[in-house]
Amino acid sequence: MIRVGFLTSGGDCQSLNATMRGVAKTLYQTYDDTEIYGILEGYKGLIYGNYRKMKPSDFSGILTEGGTIIGTSRQPFKKMREPDENGLDKVKAMKDNYKKWGLDCLVILGGNGTHKTANLLSEEGCNVVTLPKTIDNDIWGTDITFGFQSAVNIATNAIDCIHTTAASHGRVFIVEVMGHKVGWLTLHAGIAGGADIILIPEIPYDINSVVKALEKRNKQGKKFSILAVAEGAVSKEDAALSKKELKAKKREKLYPSISYQIGQEIQERTGQEVRITVPGHTQRGGGPGPYDRVISSRLGSAAARLIIEGKFGYMVGFRNGEIVPVPLNDVAGKLKIVNPESSIIKEAKGLGICFGD
Ligand code: F6P
Repeated sequence: MIRVGFLTSGGDCQSLNATMRGVAKTLYQTYDDTEIYGILEGYKGLIYGNYRKMKPSDFSGILTEGGTIIGTSRQPFKKMREPDENGLDKVKAMKDNYKKWGLDCLVILGGNGTHKTANLLSEEGCNVVTLPKTIDNDIWGTDITFGFQSAVNIATNAIDCIHTTAASHGRVFIVEVMGHKVGWLTLHAGIAGGADIILIPEIPYDINSVVKALEKRNKQGKKFSILAVAEGAVSKEDAALSKKELKAKKREKLYPSISYQIGQEIQERTGQEVRITVPGHTQRGGGPGPYDRVISSRLGSAAARLIIEGKFGYMVGFRNGEIVPVPLNDVAGKLKIVNPESSIIKEAKGLGICFGD
C-alpha cells in the first residue's frame, strides 16, 4: 500500500495532466492498493487541508488535456514563513496535513518558486519528489521543462500568422512572447518563426542597433520585419539601473509592456508603421504537443520509479536525452538562463538575426 499526494503549483502549462498521468499509471501498475490524494489548488490545498481522493479513472483520457485537473495557484515562497491573515503557520500546517493524511510522499509539479517551497518541505522532513514544469524552460538542472515545447509551438504559430499580414502591409510587427526573466521561449519561437530581431532579457538591447537592423532590411528591399520580444526584454539603459530604480520606473507605467515602448521608438525613428501582438496566456493554453506528451510521460514514470525505490528529495530532470534525479537543494533558488555566448545565439546571429546588442 502506498499513499501519495499530488500537487500542481504556480502558473499552469499544457502538460501537467500528462505528467500526473505518467506518475499515476506507473504507481497503479506497481501497487494494487495505490492511493492518490489530489491536493487542490497547489500549496493552498496543502496548507488548508483541501484534497480529493483520486481514482484510476481520473487519470484516463487526460494525456492530451491542458490545464490541471487538481487546480493550481501561486503561493509566493517568500511569504511561506509568514503567518496567514488568521495567524496560521503555513509551513506547520502543510507538515501537519502531510502527517494527518498519512502520506508516504508528495509529488510536486511546478516551476522555480514551487521548487523553493518543495525544498523547504523536504528539509522539514517530508518525502518529496518534484517534476519540472514551466513554459519558460528556466529550471536549473534539467535541459528541458515540460510545457516549454508546447508553448514554443503556440508562440511560433503566432509569428507564422503575423508573417502573412506583415508582408501584405509592409509593416513592422512585434510579437511579445512570455518570459519575464529568461528568453528561452522567445529565442526558440523567434528562430522557428523566422523573426528578424529577437530581444531577450539576457541580452539587453540598444534601440539604435534595432533601428539599424530594420534600416538594413529596408535597404535590402525587405518591406516588412518581425521582432520576437520577450516580455522581460530590457534596454541597455534600464539594465544599468539598480533594481529599486527599475521598479520605480516600471511603476510609472508609461507603456502597457516593453513591446509598446519599443514599438513607439521604432515608429518615431524609422517612420515605419508598427503593430504589436501579445499572444499572452494562449501560450500556456490548450493541450500538449507530442514532444511534451513523451517528455511528460517519461518524467512522470521516472518520478514514480523514485518513489518505488524510496528515493526522496529529488527533482526528476532530463539531461542529454536521459532522465536523471537532481537533488532538490541543488535546484532550489537557481535559474537556468540563456547564455549570450552559447552556440544557439551564435548560430542565430549567423542566420542574420539581430539581438539588439
Ligand atoms: O509560468 C510562467 C509564466 O507564464 C511566465 O512566462 C509569465 O511571465 C507568467 O507565468 C505569467 O504569470 P500569470 O499567469 O500569473 O499572469
